[in-house]
Amino acid sequence: MKFNDNFGRLPPSYVFAGLAVKKNLARKKWGDELIDLGIGDVKLPLFGCVAEEMKKAADELTNVDGFKGYPPASGYDFLKDAIISDYEKIGVKLCRDEIFVHDGAKGELFALNSLMGRNGKILFPVPCYPAALESAIIYGNEPILLPADENGSVLPPFGKSCDAVYLCSPSNPSGKTLSEYELGLWVDYASSVGATLFFDGAYSDYVSSGGIKSVYLVSGAKKCAVAIRFFSKGYGFTGIRLGFTVAPQEQRELNDLRKRLSGSLDNGVSYVTQRGGAACFSTEGQAEMLERTKYYKTNAEILRNALKERGLKIVSGSDSPYVYAKCPDGFTDEGFCALLSDKAGVIATPGSGFYEQNGDYFRLSAFPSREEVSKAAERFIALRL
Ligand code: MLT
Repeated sequence: MKFNDNFGRLPPSYVFAGLAVKKNLARKKWGDELIDLGIGDVKLPLFGCVAEEMKKAADELTNVDGFKGYPPASGYDFLKDAIISDYEKIGVKLCRDEIFVHDGAKGELFALNSLMGRNGKILFPVPCYPAALESAIIYGNEPILLPADENGSVLPPFGKSCDAVYLCSPSNPSGKTLSEYELGLWVDYASSVGATLFFDGAYSDYVSSGGIKSVYLVSGAKKCAVAIRFFSKGYGFTGIRLGFTVAPQEQRELNDLRKRLSGSLDNGVSYVTQRGGAACFSTEGQAEMLERTKYYKTNAEILRNALKERGLKIVSGSDSPYVYAKCPDGFTDEGFCALLSDKAGVIATPGSGFYEQNGDYFRLSAFPSREEVSKAAERFIALRL
């Protein structure tokens, strides 16, 4: 067979696969004292109310009347209705036909790329979530990188054409949260050039009451934006796998193609998982989510304070489970992360893993336990450079 040449345009391994190798080497020196602030994987357990609902759903499947085979390709109505009610709370009206339930970010990014014609130009403010950019490369689309300034901001390139724009807010990795005004500029830009806005809301649950919680609160967004949401980081579903995409009916062709893709792409998400997802929107689930995101944001604050004490320039704001900062003078990102691993027993991700172009930044994940994060903060303060 003739292989896809686009793989040759990727780094040899996915950033977190490469980091796992470095972590295993560091574990030889540090053993259980090694603190992994690399990959953003949640550490706290599943919410009680979600687990109870999943157990009930599994029990139903054990009897003939309750048993279910293939799920509906775009998701069960009970989950779509729970999602619709959640959007209603912030004043966004959706219907079932606009929601496509799936198993998380990566597969859906590939799915969205498959809706585009080949050689499409996609803008990526960088640093950005590597899987988003790499799915575009693998599909043979042309990523155009727009480097962010020192505050994590990027302005839309009015006047320049493109087919799609990928935005993530709060951003992974930088933690930059777009204001309503900034998001409005991107919506205006996308509309002006006829581009689709892929809005990655993986961290929307981290937006505090002052910030904008949905791209659809911006006027005109339903005509150009597709929103992708996940249960991973707000509800602890990194291992369970659940997400959904909103493809508004105002974008007729896109909605039709996404609908057409369902069924050909996969056989949907399990009943048990979707029942757990619906429980996330219960009063108890929402209260737990707020507690959980507060816990991780407090972890991030502990790390930010330690880095500030060392005089490092922090990019991230407070609505993020990540801390993104500039390396101390004289260090490359790879060099500084290697030093952190060797001398402090802390694993961090170099900014270049997120396609940051100068190799000057690093990211810390605040998802580990409070104890580990506090210990890592102490080690940063004590680190001799
Ligand atoms: C991260 O940024 O750490 C991610 O969530 C891990 C991934 O999905 O690759």
